[in-house]
Amino acid sequence: MGQEESVRVLEGKNIILGVSGGIAAYKGAELCRLLVQEGATVRVIMTRAAREFITPLTFSTLTGHPALTETFGEGSGGPLTHIDLARGADLFLVAPATANILGKLAAGIADDLLTTTALAVDCPTLVAPAMNVHMFAKAAVQENLATLKRRGWGVIEPEEGFLACGATGKGRLAALERIVAACRRALAPQDFRDRVVLVTAGGTREPLDPVRYIGNYSSGKMGHALARAAWERGARVTLITASQLPPPPGVTAVPVRTAAEMLASLKERFNGADVVIMAAAVADFRPGRVADRKIKKETLKELTISLEPTEDILAALGRVRERQLLVGFAAETEDLLANARHKLAAKGLDLVVANDVTRPGAGFGSDTNIVTLLYPGGRYEELPRLPKLEAAYRILDAVAALPRFCRGERGPERED
Ligand code: CTP
Repeated sequence: MGQEESVRVLEGKNIILGVSGGIAAYKGAELCRLLVQEGATVRVIMTRAAREFITPLTFSTLTGHPALTETFGEGSGGPLTHIDLARGADLFLVAPATANILGKLAAGIADDLLTTTALAVDCPTLVAPAMNVHMFAKAAVQENLATLKRRGWGVIEPEEGFLACGATGKGRLAALERIVAACRRALAPQDFRDRVVLVTAGGTREPLDPVRYIGNYSSGKMGHALARAAWERGARVTLITASQLPPPPGVTAVPVRTAAEMLASLKERFNGADVVIMAAAVADFRPGRVADRKIKKETLKELTISLEPTEDILAALGRVRERQLLVGFAAETEDLLANARHKLAAKGLDLVVANDVTRPGAGFGSDTNIVTLLYPGGRYEELPRLPKLEAAYRILDAVAALPRFCRGERGPERED
């Protein structure tokens, strides 16, 4: 995560990073660096096998603390190290986790410093498995993972791809960005836990012919930041996105192109949603006729495109919503408050996030935003220029403080 979008969730947190002995152990070093960069104090415990792949010195240098390797004697830090480490720990993470360590963790075996500490901690626990595709698919490994999940461990699923052993399939250590994201979710406030949040992002593209469209300058960064923030705070997030940006870890991304596709996708999911945040820049008009062949310039002296209105998605949802909380944006170039207030009332919203897109640091594509939050009843709050992830966190703070959110008006129980 870039510095410009940082909300320092891991700042000052004590993370125990267990590194076990697979080839992915070398990636543990980079992971360690990322966690330190996010402000965490990282204490590394290595298994004996991990030391065959990477030296303790690497981790000691990266963390500024000796990497621990033994329960007793040199490399142990003393006979009660596991208790001392466990007492101060905010998060316990094993990455990479081999089949062997998963087996030990599931069985409660404590035969080295890492497994002993695992039993002693009283904090969120995560594993990021990495191994050969056939090993990962084995019933023993899958059952061990199921056991760990049942007991509250977070499992950061490995990815499919080319493995160091030459095979292709599921078993590669999760991308480090996903592991860091899982750590952030484990330590962020969980005020959105299990809420179903739909976020829209990006500028819709309304086709003119097979190669051209009418679009706008929206990058989708604000919507993607909101989706990331909601997921970190425990929500189940679907991001309906017209943006080209990669979706943040953990969220279900639904790519769409046009306003009509965005509306259809929202309608499909609206009943199950608790919160809808319309950060997308939805086209208000689309070409009345889409040519099925490329429009050729030779045949034309000039080109007049007639446009027809698209449906106002937010207004449509505002008319049918029951318990859902609706958050709209208002991108303005003048009369910010008056225009935003009008949208709040006209679309029946719970909150409007208004921004003057002409201000430096607030426009489309920027990494920062300057927003004003408007509530029904006339109250409003101006926020300073903030990195978009931080602005997203502040917007979610406002959503979480809405009376309807606090009452926890929820849909029917859902399966995972
Ligand atoms: N919006 C929508 N459907 C549309 C247009 C806009 O749901 N067809 C949503 C946007 O996602 C945003 C809010 O309505 O959350 C306000 O969008 P904005 O473009 O600022 O205003 P409009 O309502 O389109 O009005 P205008 O363009 O005239 O300012």
